Amino acid sequence: MKKFNNNDFRISDVGKEFTVYGWVNRMRNMGGVIFVDLRDRTGLLQVVFNKTSLESDFAEAENLKSEYCLKITGTIQKRAEANPNLATGEVEMLAKNLEILSSSAELPYNLYDDGKALENTTLKYRYLELRKDKYHRILESRAKIMKSIREYLDNNGFTEIETPILCKSTPEGARDYIVPSRVNKGSFYALPQSPQIFKQLLMVAGFERYYQIAKCFRDEDLRADRQPEFTQVDMEMSFVNEEDIMNTVEGLIRKIMLDVKGLSIGDIPRMKYDDAMNFYGSDKPDTRFEMKLNDITEVLRGTVMNMFNSVITEGGVVKCIVVKNNADKYSRKDIDSLTESVKVFGAKGLAYLKYEDGIFTGSIAKNVEEERLNNLKEVLGLENNDLVLIIADKLNIANTSLGALRINVAKNLNLIPDGLFNFLWVTDFPAFEWSETEERYMACHHPFTMPKDEDVDKLLTDKAHVYSKAYDIVLNGYEAGGGSIRIHDQEVQRKMFEALELTEEQIKEKFGFFVEALKYGTPPHGGLALGLDRLVMILNDTDNIKDVIAFPKTQSASCLMSEAPSEVTEDQLKDLGIKVVDNK
Ligand code: AMO
Repeated sequence: MKKFNNNDFRISDVGKEFTVYGWVNRMRNMGGVIFVDLRDRTGLLQVVFNKTSLESDFAEAENLKSEYCLKITGTIQKRAEANPNLATGEVEMLAKNLEILSSSAELPYNLYDDGKALENTTLKYRYLELRKDKYHRILESRAKIMKSIREYLDNNGFTEIETPILCKSTPEGARDYIVPSRVNKGSFYALPQSPQIFKQLLMVAGFERYYQIAKCFRDEDLRADRQPEFTQVDMEMSFVNEEDIMNTVEGLIRKIMLDVKGLSIGDIPRMKYDDAMNFYGSDKPDTRFEMKLNDITEVLRGTVMNMFNSVITEGGVVKCIVVKNNADKYSRKDIDSLTESVKVFGAKGLAYLKYEDGIFTGSIAKNVEEERLNNLKEVLGLENNDLVLIIADKLNIANTSLGALRINVAKNLNLIPDGLFNFLWVTDFPAFEWSETEERYMACHHPFTMPKDEDVDKLLTDKAHVYSKAYDIVLNGYEAGGGSIRIHDQEVQRKMFEALELTEEQIKEKFGFFVEALKYGTPPHGGLALGLDRLVMILNDTDNIKDVIAFPKTQSASCLMSEAPSEVTEDQLKDLGIKVVDNK
C-alpha cells in the first residue's frame, strides 16, 4: 500500500529512503539528469534521475511521458535551489529505482495549460481533467462540508433516511425526468425533483427530525448554477415554527463556515420578500454591495415628459439605481448595451442621467423640468460623476430589470468585494403568483406551504395579498436554500386547493396518497433544503456549478464522457412497450 503523501516531504526527511507513487506531472530532460514532478492526490514532489544513482535502466527514465503512473524508491535530499511555490520546494527525491506501473497514451489536450482547452474536450476526458489540483481541492472541500453537515444534524437529533428515486411526480414545478416501467407497460416513474412528499410523510410517520443528502432531478433550462441532477441537504422537523427552522439552519451554516472556512458567522440578517424586490430587484439580493433601487415616481409625477407621465398615470412606477462616481466610465455605446440587456426582462427602455460638474446630461436631461432634476439631485443625494439609470414600467418589470442592471454594473465596475460571505434570509414570500400564460394564480412554492396565520382568511378572497411561511437562505446573491412551514390543518389545505382552482379529480390524481396521509394526525411541521452544489461552489470561489460536481452534465443535459443520454436497443424498447416516433 502507498504509505507516503508526495506533498509531505520536508527538510527533516533528508537522508531517508522512501517509496513514492504518482503521475508524471511535468518532466525536464537536462541531458544526463532528468527532473520529474511526481504528482499524487496531495501535491508534487520533484524526483531527480541520474545515471549514477539510478539502479534501474536509465533509458526508462528518459522515455517517461506526461501522466505515466510510477513507483519510485529513492532518498530525500536538499534541493540546490529551493522552490518557494511548492510545499515540498526545499527537498527532492534522488531516485534509486523506477518502476513504470502504467504508461499513458498521448494526452488529448494539454492538462497543464489551465483554461486553454475547450470545455467540451475537458468534459469528454473528465477523468483527466479531474487530475488537476483544483478539482481535488474542491471535491475534498465538498466532502468536508458534507461531513460537517452530518455531524451537526446527527448531534441535533436528526435521523438520516433515504427516500426513493423511482417515484411519482413531485410538486416542485419543473419538468420531470421519467423512467418507463417494464413490468407495468405504459406506466412511468418520475425521478424526484426533491424528496418533498416523502419527507412530509416521514413527519406523519413520527420521525420528527429527518435529513438526507439527496439527489434531485429537474428537467429545466440549465444555467451556470443549475444542473439537471444536483444534491440537496434536505431537512424536515415536526413541532416547530419558522423561527425554530431558521435557527437550526443558522446553526448548521455557522458550523460549516467554521469547519470549512474558519470563519465565525454572526446572526444572519432577514429581509422580507417585498423589501428584497423593492430595494434590490431580486428575491436573492446580493448584499455585498449597496446600490439599492430608488423609487422616484413621486418626483416625476406630472412631468411634461410623456414617457414617464404615461407610465405613472397607468399605475406604473419610475425607479432607478445610482452608480456612484462612475458616470465617466459609461459611454453612449455602453448605455445602449445596458438598454439591450434589460429588454429580456420586459423593460421597454432605459433612461439615464449623468451629473457632472454641476450639470445634468443624458437621455432625459433636456426633457425633464429643471426643478424636478434638482429635486432628483436632492432625493438621490447625487454627487459629482454619478450616473442614474432609470426605468419606467410596471413595478415588477422595473424591479427585476434594475435588479439585473445592479449586478451587471457592479460586476463590470468591480464593486463586489472579494472574500465576503453574505448570508441573508428572505422571508414572507407571497403564496401565489399570477401566471400570464395560464391567466390564474399559481402556488409560488408548492400547494402544501402554510400561509401566514393572518392571511388564511384571504385565501379565497384576496390571493394577491396572501403571504406564506416560506423562507429562502441567500448567499452572495445565490439562492442557497429554501423551505417553508407546511399545512397540517385539513381545512386550510382544502382552502388552498380551492384557491389554486384544483378540482377533486386533479387533487386525487396529483397528490391522492399524500392528501390521504395528512388525515391521520399530521404534526405541525416544516423544513428546508440547501442546494449543496451551490454552497460548495460559493465557498470554493467559483461561479460554475460544474466545477463542484465530479461528473457534471452540459447545457443540453448530456454527459460528454459517457455519452448519456443515448439510444437503447430495439429489444429494450420492445420490453418496455415503447416506440420512438420522433427523435429529432
Ligand atoms: P427548492 O426548489 O427551492 O426547494 O430547492 C432547494 C435548493 O436546491 C437548489 N437547487 C438547485 N441546485 C442546482 N441545480 C438545480 N437545478 C437546482 N434547483 C434547486 C437551490 C435551492 O434553493 N422541497 C423544497 C425544499 C423545502 O421546501 O423544504 C425544494 O426543493 O439552492
